[in-house]
Amino acid sequence: MRTEQNKNDLNDLVNWLIANRRLDVKILVLTRNFKQEAELESAINRYSNLQIKICEYIRIPPAVFREAVEHLSDSKSSVETARSLENKGNKSSTEKKGSFLDRFKPKPKSLPEFQATDNLTKELDKVSRGISRIVAITGHRGCGITSTTINVASEASKRGLSVLVLDMDIEYRSTNMYFSSFHERSKRDEGINASLIRTLARPQDYMTTAFHVKDNLWMAGLGYSFTDPRLIEQFYNSSKLVGLVSLLRNKFNLILLDMPLHLLEKFGDVMIHIDSFGMCIPNNLYSVLSTLKNVEGTLDKEKAAYLNAKSKVIVTKYNDRSRFQGDIFTPDRVSEIMASGLLESFTYEMKVAGYVSYNNDFDSQIESDVPLVYTGTDHERTYGNILLRLLEGVS
Ligand SMILES: Nc1ncnc2c1ncn2[C@@H]1O[C@H](COP(=O)(O)OP(=O)(O)OP(=O)(O)O)[C@@H](O)[C@H]1O
Ligand SMILES: [Mg+2]
Repeated sequence: MRTEQNKNDLNDLVNWLIANRRLDVKILVLTRNFKQEAELESAINRYSNLQIKICEYIRIPPAVFREAVEHLSDSKSSVETARSLENKGNKSSTEKKGSFLDRFKPKPKSLPEFQATDNLTKELDKVSRGISRIVAITGHRGCGITSTTINVASEASKRGLSVLVLDMDIEYRSTNMYFSSFHERSKRDEGINASLIRTLARPQDYMTTAFHVKDNLWMAGLGYSFTDPRLIEQFYNSSKLVGLVSLLRNKFNLILLDMPLHLLEKFGDVMIHIDSFGMCIPNNLYSVLSTLKNVEGTLDKEKAAYLNAKSKVIVTKYNDRSRFQGDIFTPDRVSEIMASGLLESFTYEMKVAGYVSYNNDFDSQIESDVPLVYTGTDHERTYGNILLRLLEGVS
């Protein structure tokens, strides 16, 4: 019990330090528990100034404290330091012998942190680090909303923006698929299982109610086993969401909502608080018509026109062989047809934020639990450009 409590306390502390950009604060854990390093792996991975020192004594003698503190003030403040400290003259070092099984274990993810490989960084810098934007990713069902949300959020976080993802699609809850750390935690932590409801109920406590994915990336959603209709009715509604975004917009550079079109009916009052919508539409006629049909069935004319004015098109599952009336079905063509008068209240031609090519290997990001933006500069550029266009807003 206490171990679990200690672990939670330490995680809360690390989350707080990261959220408040106090990355210079050094933390040293002195413990007898040789499994501690494995148990605290997620905190160690997230916070490089956290050191674990294994100590054999039941009561830690002052000399060991002194030695540890001396090392702590050493400039080499990393887990490595702790390891070398631990190994120094200590025969019962916890250094584990490699097992032949190790090679079958999934490789630790060494994700590039705040690393940008193209000149998008400059443009993003121009948009300024001081921004705070509420952006909803929307579209008809199955068109690529969740994968876009996850990759845009990851790219934004990689580029140093603080991001909160809200998985409003409680019917599918697909963020569980893309962030397996959230899914795993939700299975054993009732609070995280209900993180969307709890964050809607107490947004000011987001550091304990939301799930800290990594670095400056947070999310709130529902685990698959959460089924309390009373709580859903009480907190999953427009007024709570307006409260949440109003309160947290100054705490994050970007709040990104996974919000399929049909949800805009229930959350209509939130729309005016959303700075821009990323409207996901694959480049085929079925998707264009489905999108318009969804808008028509969900929103009154005024709200549809508002959505139109505040949206940029993200062409998802982009098929470069798709044609319309003999011509290649380009992203601009998607935007053009959307505004061609098929729907009376949707005639403003939306700018294109970008396109995501159809990719047979797209779901590998779910299996590997590594969003596409970490796996190649082309993906990074794709979602980086979309991010930039969405942050610019509509004018
Ligand atoms: N660019 C792409 N290339 C290939 N497959 C894609 C692409 N984008 C999305 N998909 C596939 O489409 C399916 C739906 O994607 P995603 O979960 O992102 O969409 P969604 O709109 O959130 O769907 P849902 O309505 O199920 O929540 C997934 O199986 C995904 O692999
Ligand atoms: Mg989805």
